[in-house]
Amino acid sequence: MRLRTHAGLGAIATGIASVLLASTATAAPAPGSSGVGDPYYPYAGNGGYDVAHYDIRLTYQPATDLLSGTTTILATTTQDLSSFDLDFGLHVNSIRVDNLPATFHVDPKESGELVVTPARPLEKGRMITVVVNYADTPSKVVIDGYTAWKKTADGALAVDEPQSSQWWFPASDHPTDKATYDVSVEVPDSVAALSNGTLVRRTQQRAGWTRWYWRSTRPQATYLATLEVGKFEINQSATPDGKPFITAYDPAIGDSLDAAKASVERTPEIDEFLATQFGPYPFEAQGGVVSPGLSFALEAQTRPVYSGKFFRAGSNTSVVAHENAHQWFGDAVSLGRWSDIWLNEGFASYAEYLWAEHEGEGTPAELAQYVYDSYPADNAFWQVLPGDPGAAKQFDDAVYDRGAMALQALRTTVGDAAFFTILKTWVAEHKGGSARIEQFIALAERVSGRSLHELFTTWLFTKGKPAVGPNGAAPF
Ligand code: ARG
Ligand code: ZN
Repeated sequence: MRLRTHAGLGAIATGIASVLLASTATAAPAPGSSGVGDPYYPYAGNGGYDVAHYDIRLTYQPATDLLSGTTTILATTTQDLSSFDLDFGLHVNSIRVDNLPATFHVDPKESGELVVTPARPLEKGRMITVVVNYADTPSKVVIDGYTAWKKTADGALAVDEPQSSQWWFPASDHPTDKATYDVSVEVPDSVAALSNGTLVRRTQQRAGWTRWYWRSTRPQATYLATLEVGKFEINQSATPDGKPFITAYDPAIGDSLDAAKASVERTPEIDEFLATQFGPYPFEAQGGVVSPGLSFALEAQTRPVYSGKFFRAGSNTSVVAHENAHQWFGDAVSLGRWSDIWLNEGFASYAEYLWAEHEGEGTPAELAQYVYDSYPADNAFWQVLPGDPGAAKQFDDAVYDRGAMALQALRTTVGDAAFFTILKTWVAEHKGGSARIEQFIALAERVSGRSLHELFTTWLFTKGKPAVGPNGAAPF
């Protein structure tokens, strides 16, 4: 209940009375909020329920870019709900909530925000089942001037950050609402359908079509759920500790194909090294997908996706180390808010330094110093705060490079033993969930026994090039 019509003492007194009433009586069912309060993306995620599992069952026809089928969401309500939102941009045919037809409409204030009204209000603390039936052409769906779905010559890619799910399944699209996934996609026999985790089976239910079943069994953020359809060269083997290792290469990357394989096929070796730095590899499978259909790389859970362009100049294990470091930092431990992006990109960039050292290519201190020296003090680079870059600069170089320097500054300050204890404890304490920068700073102070407020304020939250150490010494 909200009272906001009258000013003055009378209204305040009425307000207090209603608060007292509300605390003793059962609250009336109310709409779930249209976002989880993210400072950069106010409509990301939804309030009033917590998703446990997505069962996505689709058919995709590359020739027409027609994607159709159902997503079944298992969730628990966190309040009495009269209605709730889903983040979704495709055309919906029908929705059922607990087997009863529900009504739905697109929120007029925000495209991609679907409001669902169940036939009956939903009580707090119940498991609910939401079945969404849909069909659309994702490449034609524009949200906020953008289309995350990437059509390729013989298929499509659902790969993007911070958002991609709105173009292929309805969700509570925020990294604080993680869930497990079953993804099954039926495609023409001539192409493959790849997703996260383990390939459970492949079936042929009608001539000319194959259904691929994928399962991801550890909590996974929505933007880390991925789908790639196309003609791929697929390689299936196992990691030294017996996990499925599945890679896929689109031959259309041409001359880069061998360099891509020489890099991505080393994923198990790279993950084995990263595990010595961060603790055990957090998931049930490993892999990688390389395609000409995107211009960046994304740390899709268990199976990063790489643009072919990373391998144009030869092998590149740096990007493989980066995306796989995200399996710990980003995927196992996810962001509490998108403004915490440093916890992903600063850490994955620092992992590149660790891998380079392992390969005999310089120490992290030398590499951080080199990067520090390469940006003059008057470069705009130093004006972006890695600890709060703003939505428009979320993937700015500063988040990556200054973010990695911040970790080297921490290491120099607390020493190697405390530094690696901090990293391993961070993953051990938060894997499967989400966490925020403030919590990392508190952990670093707890483990090191030092006040680190000034260090982090300087490196993450203050514009300008941090000064070199006393008597002009290098900061690292
Ligand atoms: N997290 C990705 C990385 O590995 C960056 C994705 C950038 N997103 C984009 N739409 N360009 O660094
Ligand atoms: Zn990254």
